[in-house]
Amino acid sequence: MKQAVQVARPAGPCHIPPMRFFNTTGPVQAEKHYSIPPLSRLDLEDVLTLIRDERYFALLAARQTGKTTALLALRELLNSGTEGGYRCVYANVEAAQAAREDTERSMRAILSELAHWARSTLGDGTLAGMWPGILAEAGPNGALREALSRWSEADPRPLVLLIDEIDALVGDTLLSVLRQLRAGYVQRPRGFPQSIILCGVRDVRDYRIHSSAEKEIISGGSAFNVKAESLRLGDFSEAEVRGLLAHQGALLAPFLEPA
Ligand SMILES: Nc1ncnc2c1ncn2[C@@H]1O[C@H](COP(=O)(O)OP(=O)(O)OP(=O)(O)O)[C@@H](O)[C@H]1O
Ligand SMILES: [Mg+2]
Repeated sequence: MKQAVQVARPAGPCHIPPMRFFNTTGPVQAEKHYSIPPLSRLDLEDVLTLIRDERYFALLAARQTGKTTALLALRELLNSGTEGGYRCVYANVEAAQAAREDTERSMRAILSELAHWARSTLGDGTLAGMWPGILAEAGPNGALREALSRWSEADPRPLVLLIDEIDALVGDTLLSVLRQLRAGYVQRPRGFPQSIILCGVRDVRDYRIHSSAEKEIISGGSAFNVKAESLRLGDFSEAEVRGLLAHQGALLAPFLEPA
């Protein structure tokens, strides 16, 4: 007959660290999930050099390859102070997708998303306090530029923006965002963000943007020709997957072929 195995427990209050698990929905958090260090998946030196050099550029990768996880880790690094005195804000502009080419509603969604993340990441309420007035004054085709300009000027620390899901924007909304970033570019870094990363699945330069207002197709390159270059985040390599699964080594060994 099998005997129950008794496990000796230490006396006193029991502090069992929460079990990590494999996350497959949304960005990975190292303290909760088994993970590959997200910044090791980027060409970090290149990215930091582009930021230092005040460049605006695209970070591209296929779906579900860790783009958002990498951006959030980059935000943490830039706000830690070890890479210079940046203030870095991440924002996902997907919320503006529902408004399609209604630039007023889209810009409202984009500005409120940026303001939300500025407040929750940096405790910075500057943008939240001013964007509704700027939108009313400057209108949707000028508000983003004006808001980013005043927000940059409000603090001497250079602002770095990480804009995720840029592909979610369409037509006149996408065009308006790209043109406003281009218009403010010359004022960086004191009067506009020092660096902006546009993250998506496709390169901005390859966009063919259908403008309902202008009744023509405009290429992404001409709308945003300030872009320095595009960086690619690769698919997970075999070595990365092996490293990840090694956390569960004994358990998964039967499913892995030898390296
Ligand atoms: N550093 C990592 N280590 C382990 N797994 C990861 C890592 N980064 C991403 N993943 C895996 O990929 C999934 C998607 O991550 P994330 O949301 O960051 O990717 P994404 O490219 O932004 O996805 P989407 O295209 O849906 O926006 C995670 O749920 C996780 O399973
Ligand atoms: Mg994502």
